Amino acid sequence: MVFNVNTEFLKDFVSGEEMKAWEKKAVSAAEKLEANIEKKDMPVGWTTLPDRYETEEYARIKKAAEKIRKDSGALVVIGIGGSYLGARAAIEFIQGEDHNAVGGVKVFFAGNSIDSDSLYGIIKQCEGVDISVNVISKSGTTTEPAIAFRVFRKILEDRYGKEGARERIYVTTDKTPKPGNLRDFAEKEGYETFVVPDDIGGRYSVLSSVGLLPIAAAGIDIDKIMEGAKKARRDNAACGYSSAAVKYAAIRNVLYSKGKNVEVFGSFSASLRYTGEWLKQLFAESEGKEGKGIFPASVVYSTDLHSVGQYIQQGQRLLFQTIIDVREPKHRITIPQSAENIDGIGYIEGKTLDFVNRKALIGTMYAHRDGGVPNVIIELEKADEEHFGYMVYFFEKACAVSGYILGINPFDQPGVEAYKKNMFSLLGKPGYPEFVF
Ligand code: PA5
Repeated sequence: MVFNVNTEFLKDFVSGEEMKAWEKKAVSAAEKLEANIEKKDMPVGWTTLPDRYETEEYARIKKAAEKIRKDSGALVVIGIGGSYLGARAAIEFIQGEDHNAVGGVKVFFAGNSIDSDSLYGIIKQCEGVDISVNVISKSGTTTEPAIAFRVFRKILEDRYGKEGARERIYVTTDKTPKPGNLRDFAEKEGYETFVVPDDIGGRYSVLSSVGLLPIAAAGIDIDKIMEGAKKARRDNAACGYSSAAVKYAAIRNVLYSKGKNVEVFGSFSASLRYTGEWLKQLFAESEGKEGKGIFPASVVYSTDLHSVGQYIQQGQRLLFQTIIDVREPKHRITIPQSAENIDGIGYIEGKTLDFVNRKALIGTMYAHRDGGVPNVIIELEKADEEHFGYMVYFFEKACAVSGYILGINPFDQPGVEAYKKNMFSLLGKPGYPEFVF
């Protein structure tokens, strides 16, 4: 496998001296993360997951996934934020954005909004198809998945009866049953349950039951994902720049200190659209607090070169890019010959799309660099299980270290509560004051 952080397009923006000057901060941030692993009750359980995943629960994930693949045509994954983005990123990265069109169990993602049209669309697509549901909520009280779970529980019970529905509902939530919480309810109803570990926060949970059950149900080899993560853990064990994740964390902070307040995560493959969504959530919730943090955005090129590409080339010089460059496409298509050549692309007939896409990538990197945009390129040999696991661990570690360099807690998200308080007041939730306009 190949996973390489190419800094060639950074040279005009970050000097060797600057990197050296930031090394001490990066090392102490990485050491702080390491020290937290030793402590109890710190939310850093994700750091060691790749070396301790083969548990009874892991075996049950595989068994449940097998059962879903046998008795269901579709799995509805209900969750929001860190409770679904990792699984969706993995499935699309490995199987493509059209994963539901290629046979096998379809995977739909519900409960990540309160948009009735979106939920309706999923319900329609589940008509005439045997379905299972995996509701994922660490807290068990998040409004969006709670609504979707009620809707799908009713659909399942109407269709299969209470007993039949019980066989098709999988609940991934907090470990401890408390009166009236989701685990308590699931245990009383007799649903199969999986644990979101106490020491792993939502956005760092893709390599736990949270991500692994839906990913395995989609027919993806989760052993290989964990092998990739394990390799990333080994390669990034050091607290200095020999860990690419620590170095990348430092680069981000050097750029931030020079006014680069926006990081654009990009790729040249639509299969990585949700990798971009996952990265945005990981970095935004981890770093955006106390008036600090790099704002994460995401693009898929070349599509977005015909949209935000204009801004990136010539707008405010406040951004840098992290481009994930997957070297091998899953499929190759050749540009057909055409005697008329009315489109003027005769000069590339016989070439593969991939060949052209690569030239687009190289051309874009030079153009953006020349336009004042620093680029980090993360080079991956291919978009398979191993590379996904590796990439997830790399970015999670980089994010945590980067957050510590920034001087914030990369594991909480207090700001998410503000809209909820207002919404609950507006909805008249018991215990919330009347909303004052
Ligand atoms: O990263 C996080 O902690 C959040 O994005 C949560 O995953 C998200 O808010 C969903 O929370 P819960 O799993 O409790 O429903």
